[in-house]
Amino acid sequence: MQLGIAVLLLRIKEVVFLKKFKVSVDKELCIGCAACTTVCDNFVMEGDKAKPKKAVISEKEFACNKEGENVCPVSAIKVVEEK
Ligand code: F3S
Repeated sequence: MQLGIAVLLLRIKEVVFLKKFKVSVDKELCIGCAACTTVCDNFVMEGDKAKPKKAVISEKEFACNKEGENVCPVSAIKVVEEK
């Protein structure tokens, strides 16, 4: 019972206090090198283009997605804070 309440409080904290980020892949820029998929499992290939599995991520997922943005050789990935 107490564990259930603790989990609920953590969920509320996550929803209320943690920042959210939008993740996008510009399909016009993407050359399909798949580097992003090797550093973050939020990126998957759809044909010869990458796409994010989740377009909105939590602060906990930021580092992985930002690394995807950083390794993209054509700057097709953007990770921006949601306002
Ligand atoms: Fe495309 Fe850049 Fe990923 S080129 S496959 S978005 S690393």
